[in-house]
Amino acid sequence: MATTSTRFSYEGLFSERSEDTPINKVDHAEYDFAVAYPAPETSPMDGLISALQTAMDSRGDEIARHMAYYPQPAGSPELREFVAWKLEYDRGFSVDVDDILLTNGSGESIGLAIQALTNPGDTAITEHFVYSGTLGQLQKFGNTVYGSETDELGLVPDALDELIGKLDGKGKKPKMIYTIAEHQNPMGPTLPEGRRREILEIAHKHGVPILEDECYVDLRFEGEVQPAFRTMDDSGIVIHVASFSKLLAPGLRLGYITAAPEVLRRAASCKIGSGPNQFAAYAIEGFLRTSLDEHRARFNPLLKQKRDAMDESLNDNFSDIGAKWSHPEGGCYTWLTMPEGTDITAPRDEIFAEGVGYNGGVGFAPNGDGQNCARLCFAFETPEKCYDGIGALAKAFKKRGLM
Ligand SMILES: Cc1ncc(COP(=O)(O)O)c(C=O)c1O
Repeated sequence: MATTSTRFSYEGLFSERSEDTPINKVDHAEYDFAVAYPAPETSPMDGLISALQTAMDSRGDEIARHMAYYPQPAGSPELREFVAWKLEYDRGFSVDVDDILLTNGSGESIGLAIQALTNPGDTAITEHFVYSGTLGQLQKFGNTVYGSETDELGLVPDALDELIGKLDGKGKKPKMIYTIAEHQNPMGPTLPEGRRREILEIAHKHGVPILEDECYVDLRFEGEVQPAFRTMDDSGIVIHVASFSKLLAPGLRLGYITAAPEVLRRAASCKIGSGPNQFAAYAIEGFLRTSLDEHRARFNPLLKQKRDAMDESLNDNFSDIGAKWSHPEGGCYTWLTMPEGTDITAPRDEIFAEGVGYNGGVGFAPNGDGQNCARLCFAFETPEKCYDGIGALAKAFKKRGLM
């Protein structure tokens, strides 16, 4: 059979929406502080597999039948019931099972909320530095994003009020305030309850919904969890998303969104494809029904050891040069701020090739600043490697005259 080998030309065929983006393979540096998840050994693989086995043993026929169908668009009813239970148990608010949509990770939930609310040319507000995935999605869907002022506690309510007022005055009232109030990514703080109440008032005053992202809520090893925005407000102004990626494993690809029914219906209308992975849903529901607290009690002290080791090494290597870093009570990240005028974002790839991975601040910056900042994920490496890797980072910075 003849084969046509002349390259086909796509000249003039690509959509305006698509971009020429390299499809990178994932590399790990020797000291990998650039990732966004805990270590593989903390994923409860045995527990997930035995939960699946238990489910098969007790209702194998039913599971086999459901696996042979495409999942329901909203996702597994059993896992949605568990999510409703968990939200009540952990966060103290109740939602109807039908007001929960399971998605392919919480990234999809965030994307659906963005699509439900925004048109190209709209504006949105986030924390001053924000999870690059959400920043990217907001921008991809055509929003101009403004990072609102934060301090060591998180969003500053007065500054947020002023920013919304200013934007509104220019006819650019934001469509949403996106916030990661528990263990913020990348900066780390948990927003105190008082500020959350003030922000809710501000949101109501201006008529701007809050998209609350609790991706890291389960990863607390110190301090007190604060009530969710959604716990304090059931008017419908709060859209709530969360994930099983950081608690269990990102490879499961399961997260969820709960919102006022009219918002959820719009979000669902933007979804392309079927509901998320049914097999993963059986494993998650079965495992967490019996082991949620036990798993967190095993997992979070390990995270604390890693945070402590990174903190100690930052103290030993960075304390006399005017650098600052955050002291998160959970989550995965420490936020390093070098003295003003230092650019640690530019040499990031070079330093990665030399063995230390981190994310430069600019990637988290709606306002385009952050050259002197870096997100350091402490969750992936061992405590020993967290300590040694920060030493190696200091050496790499010194070699380049950055400290
Ligand atoms: C704050 C935050 N939200 C959402 C996500 C998306 O996670 P996933 O899609 O795996 O649930 C991440 C991932 O790093 C994150 O940091």
